Amino acid sequence: MCGIVGIVGQQPVSDRLIGALKGLEYRGYDSAGVATIIEGALHRRRAEGKLVNLERRLKEEPLSGNVGIGHTRWATHGASTERNAHPHFSDGVAVVHNGIIENFTELKDELAADGAEFQTDTDTEVVGHLLTRYRREGMRPQEATRAMLKRVKGAYALAILFEDEPSTITAARNGPPLAIGHGDGEMFLGSDAIALAPFTNEITYLIDGDWAVVGNSGAHIFDIDGHPVERPRHISTAAADLANKGNHRHFMEKEIYEQPEVIAHALRHYINIIDSRDMVPGIDFAKVPSLAISACGTAYFAGLIGKYWFERYARLTVEIDVASEFRYREIPLPPQSAALVISQSGETADTLASLRYCKERGLKIGAIVNACESTIAREADTVFPILAGPEIGVASTKAFTCQLAVLAALAIGAARARGTVPEDELQALVRSLAELPRVMGHVLESIQPEIEFLSRELSKCRDVLYLGRGTSFPLAMEGALKLKEISYIHAEGYAAGELKHGPIALIDENMPVIVIAPHDRLFDKTVSNMQEVAARGGRIILITDEKGAAVSKLETMHTLVLPVVDEIIAPMIFSLPMQLLAYHTALFMGTDVDQPRNLAKSVTVE
Ligand code: G6P
Repeated sequence: MCGIVGIVGQQPVSDRLIGALKGLEYRGYDSAGVATIIEGALHRRRAEGKLVNLERRLKEEPLSGNVGIGHTRWATHGASTERNAHPHFSDGVAVVHNGIIENFTELKDELAADGAEFQTDTDTEVVGHLLTRYRREGMRPQEATRAMLKRVKGAYALAILFEDEPSTITAARNGPPLAIGHGDGEMFLGSDAIALAPFTNEITYLIDGDWAVVGNSGAHIFDIDGHPVERPRHISTAAADLANKGNHRHFMEKEIYEQPEVIAHALRHYINIIDSRDMVPGIDFAKVPSLAISACGTAYFAGLIGKYWFERYARLTVEIDVASEFRYREIPLPPQSAALVISQSGETADTLASLRYCKERGLKIGAIVNACESTIAREADTVFPILAGPEIGVASTKAFTCQLAVLAALAIGAARARGTVPEDELQALVRSLAELPRVMGHVLESIQPEIEFLSRELSKCRDVLYLGRGTSFPLAMEGALKLKEISYIHAEGYAAGELKHGPIALIDENMPVIVIAPHDRLFDKTVSNMQEVAARGGRIILITDEKGAAVSKLETMHTLVLPVVDEIIAPMIFSLPMQLLAYHTALFMGTDVDQPRNLAKSVTVE
């Protein structure tokens, strides 16, 4: 949700601001802008749409200046026009913002009554006008910043330029992440360590309530009351994570094909932990009465599949909800319980809020994250890295299957700790997990031609229904999410048994129904639901395994046959056709696969 950067440099900064913003484009790409101070005056360039438009703009009209801030936007308030693009100017002040100023209406009315002229439809603009007002009242930039921070409510990471203090940037954080990078005679600001990686690996993370004045030789950090505070410096490993597409057309394609390798890496880590019986430092699964899981988007669907595993194998009751609802349900959570939050980015605002909610209630928190330097990772008691490497495509693929692999390993570990599965069966489960990378590699190599054929068909459709039972139900929802995210075709994932309670009304000869049905305990029941579709002329795409294909006598539009695998790895294997179907359908539709419209990879507003 918006990326922000800043440089207090010794040389012109605009090219480097753009370079850093490229690393943050996953946070939003509705518009972009940079501002610098040149001979004591603020200047800016902004452009609607992706960063390339801003780059083009800067080629036509370069921007000098050794101190500057930049922004890539995911629109919350106000359309994605150049007028609403950050940096926002008010007299003598430039502001870039990630977050939402929740009381902006009230502040806007107050400032407008006072004569402020608003140029944009954004919530952010009140920040600049408040600062201008306090400066006019005679406050110095730091006093004005403190006064402004006391008035604004909501979530923010801010970088501010004051025209009459041309050698510093003022920064503030409450919610969305913000890091200071320490250079040699130059200082940097960025929403994450990846943005700062081209400049430095020495990072200081601001914590909520902090604000800072950053000059070229260092930063002074203060708490909300203006008291100086010290925050530790970390050596970031983000530089090693900088990703490229290799020989692939899109990051998404690369990330799909990387799965056997990254899952093998993740499994090595977790199978060692299970084998050493030194299970899950920080969470004593033998003692916890229940588990609370919260997450958003794809990570939530991974959590739903995890629920089946924890309940089935470890006999552990799981409460799960999307993080944006979790804390409103007032679930009775015994303090001896544990909570798992799942987040690729580790920055999702709702998931972070769930984490804090559970922490306040005394629960031990485990975070299943990809970004181990993220806020969620830092605030959790125990971090379970998914070790997927950087995921750049906005639609999550390898992070999903790595989250599943970690959840499966944790569920097996919990089962061992609780004595709920005999040792020989546990070992069989671990052996199945260890098989996963090889089977994934085989499936990825073999299904491509059929996927292309099916995707061409899907690209002609307006709606697609996905059905599944058991762990295939969350997978159906994830498959539908993938398709709608990147192809913009309407898709719904349903529990196969729920079909008859509503969605069956949609079935006709134009509606493809993708049925995910490995030949497991639930296969026969899912086949009955397929019969209901067939009886109404629906076009069935059955995704099953060799056993399922052998016994199913149903006429389908196509049956995609995968190898027979143990139930515990089936969700990861069956995810592959879901991902590839969405990817190839999007290619046929000609959409922007890696940066689909309206979406962002890291969502730091609630
Ligand atoms: C966004 C992304 C999704 C992701 C979700 C949760 O909506 O587009 O791909 O699943 O956020 O993100 P997280 O980083 O918490 O896993």
